Amino acid sequence: MSASSPTTATGALDGANEKRGLWSSRMAFILAATGSAVGLGNVWKFPYITGENGGGAFVLVYMLCIAAVGLPIMMAEVVIGRRGGRSPVNSIRHITQRDVLSSRWSIVGIIGVLAAFLILSFYSVIGGWAVSYVGTTASGQLTGQSAEAIGALFSNLLADPGTLLLWHTVFMALVMAVVVKGVRAGLERAVSILMPALFVLLLTVVGYAMTTGHFGAGVSFLFKPDFSQLSTSGVLVALGHAFFTLSLGMAIMMAYGSYLPKDISIAKTSITVSLMDTVVALLAGLAIFPIVFANGLEAGAGPGLIFQTLPLAFGHMPMGSLFGSLFFILLIFAAWTSGISLLEPLVEWLEEQKGMNRVRSTLGAGIACWLLGIASILSLNLWSDVAPLGMFAMFEGKTVFDLLDYLTSNILLPLGGLLVAVFTGWFMAKDALQSELSMSATGFNIWYATLRYLAPVAVMIVFVYNLI
Ligand code: PFF
Repeated sequence: MSASSPTTATGALDGANEKRGLWSSRMAFILAATGSAVGLGNVWKFPYITGENGGGAFVLVYMLCIAAVGLPIMMAEVVIGRRGGRSPVNSIRHITQRDVLSSRWSIVGIIGVLAAFLILSFYSVIGGWAVSYVGTTASGQLTGQSAEAIGALFSNLLADPGTLLLWHTVFMALVMAVVVKGVRAGLERAVSILMPALFVLLLTVVGYAMTTGHFGAGVSFLFKPDFSQLSTSGVLVALGHAFFTLSLGMAIMMAYGSYLPKDISIAKTSITVSLMDTVVALLAGLAIFPIVFANGLEAGAGPGLIFQTLPLAFGHMPMGSLFGSLFFILLIFAAWTSGISLLEPLVEWLEEQKGMNRVRSTLGAGIACWLLGIASILSLNLWSDVAPLGMFAMFEGKTVFDLLDYLTSNILLPLGGLLVAVFTGWFMAKDALQSELSMSATGFNIWYATLRYLAPVAVMIVFVYNLI
């Protein structure tokens, strides 16, 4: 933990057995948590799953999941982290020992480490696509191109395992380079400049989208719910994505919470992070869908959606090569800070449990992840017909890439979140939660009831519906 700990202030946490630095301010925590939350999930995944699931009704359910399930669980993760004052697995162990609970609860931390590892393996491949598009946009080859030509460029990238491997390797190396040195503090400072910059560039593309003559169609696609377009599996995707986009169910917010000073409001900071994350996702949607409709593209085009629409915008706006390359550089930064928070839990776990040093654990975890990423790369071309668990109905037709995405977002993260909700809502001492949260009685009661009943029941109902 030490190598990545915030170094800005020192002080021992109540109940912690080691001296650990605290975040210097509420802002530092917000930046780190936002750095983890805002990433490819907002700009790449949210628009494409919205397109695949019919738009407005999906977006509405997604926002409900953020507010009624994601936010309360984020607060619970931060509470566990700050209460335990240690790394996630040890925080839970500490709380279970003190409150005489079963030590089996540390499974939450293990699920988190496993999910983070599986996610990073394909996240890095998509991060690699963004790296490759910096050159594509900067070279000016998109200028004035048709939608077909831009689509072909993307298909050619997917069909070429060598190029995909190169950019996947570059992305993973970027992530490992930071994790091994533990220089995250510097990167977090960078987030305070780069996130607003990404925001401004997204606004620029939204501005362009307004000139396409199809902005209204984009807005109504996103915000006019048509429930006939939403299936029960779409509801599961919305729920899973609420966890993915807020970096929940992986004990990451627990790790960050352990550094949060006692006098800072967990509710306010969690609301701020969730709001910023949601605004970025919605802006990405507003930037993309008008371009989709203006060019007669397919809203449900799948994972390639942003790579087929945004380059079209950059190819047609003034100074598009400059804006385009800047945009993809900022997207890489957003993905990078998220990637770091995905590798960190496994590296820490190897250090704590296997006694490895930082270099060996980073190399071991990073290389294992990189290797698994190769399977995702091949599933985009040579193995595009291979469905490894296709004999089970729920995994039918799913390639390695689809399978990893489904397993993590739709199963492991909601399961991790469910366990966090049950642990906090039903097992942790209520007075401890009250003192950690120090909210008004009404605020606390709403949170507590949501965590005990609404969130677990919602996750279970969605699970059961999708299994039968
Ligand atoms: N929240 C990140 C995104 O939306 O891109 C992805 C992510 C990061 C998921 C860290 C999970 C995580 F623990």
